[in-house]
Parts: sequence; structure tokens; C-alpha cells
Amino acid sequence: MPGLFSPLPVKHFTLRNRIVLPPMASDTADDSGRVTEAHIRHYVQRAAAGVGMVIVEHCYVRRDGRYNPRQLGIHDDSVIPGLAQLARAVKAYDAVVGVQIAHAGGRASSKTIGGQPVAPSEGVLSPGGSEPARALTLADLDALEEAYVAAARRAVEAGFDFVELHGAHCFLLCEFLSPLANRRMDAMGAAWRTACAFPCAWYKRCGVYFQRRSCCCIGCRAATSCQVA
Ligand SMILES: Cc1cc2nc3c(=O)[nH]c(=O)nc-3n(C[C@H](O)[C@H](O)[C@H](O)COP(=O)(O)O)c2cc1C
Repeated sequence: MPGLFSPLPVKHFTLRNRIVLPPMASDTADDSGRVTEAHIRHYVQRAAAGVGMVIVEHCYVRRDGRYNPRQLGIHDDSVIPGLAQLARAVKAYDAVVGVQIAHAGGRASSKTIGGQPVAPSEGVLSPGGSEPARALTLADLDALEEAYVAAARRAVEAGFDFVELHGAHCFLLCEFLSPLANRRMDAMGAAWRTACAFPCAWYKRCGVYFQRRSCCCIGCRAATSCQVA
């Protein structure tokens, strides 16, 4: 039986062991969401210590999805060089490296994003949320899907081995999956099956993007529990 220290082949890469560093926000980005020396130090230390797979902390795909002023961003091409430096530095220690892409949805605050937060449904307060979010229209969702695909493209360009969609912790994708937060009556809500439609559509779109590039693959961290007020 394979043990913790046995290699694991996954698509185009092989993990040297089954030890994974999960995404953990360090909140050490600069004002523009760019990688700093603190990130390089932090992740390189873990790779050098022998971790097989590093998942870089959640990065916002668009400015209105920023959770924290020091959060890493993957929202703009200007962040690619920093992310590429980080991916290269981790890979130099033979670890596989991915990046988690996220939108904070109703957990964002107007103080951080400079506008009203957005969520699947109006008038639902997410954990930690202190202000009512605006419900996303179907046209908004199309634009957001594009933002996710653009973020995935940046991850590929930066040289990451994979991308993880953040569908947990009551961030936007998780809000869609939760019947408490998603009270929509259209094709993106109403019932469990349709509530999954939106995250699944994104997953597929990003997945199609990766299929065309053998260098990268995609995963999703998903949860459906979302306490709301
Ligand atoms: C400081 C801190 C930051 C975290 N940031 C993220 C994050 O960016 N994305 C994410 O999916 N989970 C995040 N988590 C959750 C962790 O990935 C992990 O699931 C959690 O610490 C539980 O770990 P365990 O399953 O080993 O007990 C964070 C946790 C901590 C403590």
C-alpha cells in the first residue's frame, strides 16, 4: 500500500510524496495584490522542508472579490511576474505548486473593495459580513465567469501546475452552493441541482482552458455549509 512518502502521479506531474500545504492566507501582499518577498520566503521554506504539493493562498479574481487589503490578487496581468517568480522559486525545490483563485462574494466589505459587495441573493448576510450585498444579475455572472477564466490563464502564464477554485468558507462559489445563501429562483438557484450550475459552469470553462494546455490542471475546494443571517 502506498504510504505518505510514496510518489503520486497526477496528470502531467508527479508528487514526490503525499504531503500537501493547504492554501492559507498570509495577507502579506502589497497594496496592489502583488507577491512580496514575504511570500517567496514563506512558500520556499515549506517546499525546502519537503512538502510535495504547495497550494498558494486564495487570490482574488477581480477587485470586487477582494477579502482583505493585503490579499494576493490574480485579477490583472501586472501580477503575473510576481506570481511567476513565486512559482519558479517553489518548483526549484521539486514541489508541485498550484494557486487558489477566489471571489469573496458577500464576505467582501465596501471598505476594502470601494463599492457594494455582490452575492447570489439580495439581503443575505454572510459570516463576517456587515452590509447587505447586491444580487448578481445573469449578465454579471457572465462577466464573472470571464474573470475566472482570465485568472486561470494568468496562473498558466505564471507557470503554476494547477489551479484550485475556492468554493468553501462562504465565499462566492460556496454561497451559490448553499441553499441558505442562494435564494435565487432563476437558472442559478432555486434547487440544489441548479444552484450547482454556476460553479459547475465555471469549473468546466476553466477546465476546457486547461485541456488545451497540457501543462496545467484544475481542482475545486467545495463546501455547502454557509451560515447566514
Ligand atoms: C490563517 C489561515 C488562513 C487560511 N486561508 C485559507 C485560504 O486562503 N483558502 C482556503 O481554502 N483555506 C484557508 N484556510 C483553511 C486551511 O486551508 C485549512 O483548511 C484549515 O486550517 C484546517 O486545516 P486542517 O484541515 O488541517 O485542520 C486558512 C486557515 C488559516 C488558519
